[in-house]
Amino acid sequence: MCGIVGYIGDRQAAPILLEGLKKLEYRGYDSAGVAVYDGDKINVVKTKGRLSILEEKLKGGSNLSGTMGIGHTRWATHGAPSDINSHPHTSLSGNIAVVHNGIIENYLKLRDDLAEKGYKFVSETDTEVIAHLVDYYYKGDLVDALIKAINRIEGSYALGIICKERPDEIVAVRKDSPLIVGLGDQENFIASDIPAILEYTRNIYLLEDNEVVLLKKDDVKIYNLNKEEIKKEVFTVQWDVSAAEKGGYEHFMIKEICEQPKAVRDTVFPRIKEGKIVLDDIKLTKEEIDDIKKIYIVACGTAYYAGIVGKYIIEKLARIPVEADVASEFRYRNPIVDENTLVIIISQSGETADTLAALREARRKGARVLSVVNVVGSSIARESDDVLYTWAGPEIAVASTKAYSTQLNAMYLIALHIALIKGTITQEEADKVIEALKQLPEKIQHILDNKEKIQYFASQYFRSKDIFFLGRGLDYAVALEGSLKLKEISYIHSEAYAAGELKHGTIALIEDGTLVVAVATQEHLFEKMLSNIKEVKARGAVVLAIAQEGNTEIEKEADYVIYIPKTDPLLTSSLTVIPLQLFAYYVAVAKGCDVDKPRNLAKSVTVE
Ligand code: AGP
Repeated sequence: MCGIVGYIGDRQAAPILLEGLKKLEYRGYDSAGVAVYDGDKINVVKTKGRLSILEEKLKGGSNLSGTMGIGHTRWATHGAPSDINSHPHTSLSGNIAVVHNGIIENYLKLRDDLAEKGYKFVSETDTEVIAHLVDYYYKGDLVDALIKAINRIEGSYALGIICKERPDEIVAVRKDSPLIVGLGDQENFIASDIPAILEYTRNIYLLEDNEVVLLKKDDVKIYNLNKEEIKKEVFTVQWDVSAAEKGGYEHFMIKEICEQPKAVRDTVFPRIKEGKIVLDDIKLTKEEIDDIKKIYIVACGTAYYAGIVGKYIIEKLARIPVEADVASEFRYRNPIVDENTLVIIISQSGETADTLAALREARRKGARVLSVVNVVGSSIARESDDVLYTWAGPEIAVASTKAYSTQLNAMYLIALHIALIKGTITQEEADKVIEALKQLPEKIQHILDNKEKIQYFASQYFRSKDIFFLGRGLDYAVALEGSLKLKEISYIHSEAYAAGELKHGTIALIEDGTLVVAVATQEHLFEKMLSNIKEVKARGAVVLAIAQEGNTEIEKEADYVIYIPKTDPLLTSSLTVIPLQLFAYYVAVAKGCDVDKPRNLAKSVTVE
């Protein structure tokens, strides 16, 4: 996700901003920029691409003078990566410059309101709206203008704002996106994360949501939204720089596992307006949806396993035949595809070679292509008819976690959208699922808050040589992902099986002490799962069950039980996958594996 840095003091700002942005590169980005006040005006230099391009343009910062400024690395959500979409964004007068991390959910309405007042927009971003909104409210007090502006804004944001008429101050605020204040000697800082300012100071304010900052070089004030001053405790950073680059987490993978509540919220909430699914990104008309006779869901690896969940959900709600296929098979088997086929492509990176080739094969045969992608402006996104972006933010760890969770939620949204348009479910039935969807982030957080039990279990079984994952229906689909997670980061052999299939051969491999992870959240299949657990127990297996809270019956059969909060039966995969991710992570850590960069693997397989 985006990175923000701000500086005010007696030193030249540009080199400090550049160095701070470099320390935030781990957050992933596709463009960068700075805005510095030079004593007369605000100079903005920004560019698509790597920081090195910006550094070259700035000659290391030497050709941009001034002791107050803000900097930004952008992870595109609204508007493809480009120079003009890069931050900072300014008001047309050049009086206000803004950098932003987050998503403004109501930016289209704000944009229309401002356009009616004569404001002109030059970018495709949600952020530019903030520059004009603050400008609109600015009457000489920047804090007042910011508070008025954020009272109009819905969504998540960390903002850094400077004003030509207020050269001795920077204002900032956060809501749902991280922002800290660095306290120096005759200089002060704002930043998205500690690494950006750690070389200058260890004394920081950790901002809470809706805390507004007025930063001067020799004074920092924090206000609430009523402009009442808040007294903050100074936090002294104990981390060394390298650890802090992961925001204090030991690995990117655990950081991204813990970011899932926010990733799911950012992906889903902007698409539920007044209780209704609103997918502005999908242009499929009712007639086109009614003409769909078959849906393929095509992807690789984890994205493919998200597609299998999608298959179950779309068939259940929309009653259209769905086939999930791995891209490397789909592309070479002359698939039966025509203009009545919808092909859903899923990809975190949007650059996976097999998946891109499958997309092209589908289009060549006349299919409509809808892609679910995390990287804005990626090849798959650009070549699709419709794109439903997952707003997971950059996923650095090779093993996909938060992207998978947002892909699941994209499947839920698409299934509900199509089913409501086809009329295969009533609005009342949809409302029940939508209400449960909105509760997923907090339920994921509840599981994360109790991760120690899973860590303990992993410490008991990390020496296993073979681990089996069993499930039925949606539980089988998520068992596939759990098995892949374990394999790719711990190098332990693992297989996921439809539980009813085990007795057709593979049960021959179960012997004394074999660990079996049994996912048993689907109530209508629970008795069958219980039988399968008994089958493997009878052959000496140790069983870890994943079940919904309240199901105590399973404790009679399983050796260990991890409970997930109750939710709509259609949505259990979003919760079940969390313990499976954590199990894989803690086993890999216990084995001393390179969790973020497993052997032989790449984050994006851009070759066949
Ligand atoms: C998942 O943990 C792996 N990193 C891998 O299976 C990945 O999901 C697959 O390569 C697809 O990548 P994509 O989503 O970027 O297309």
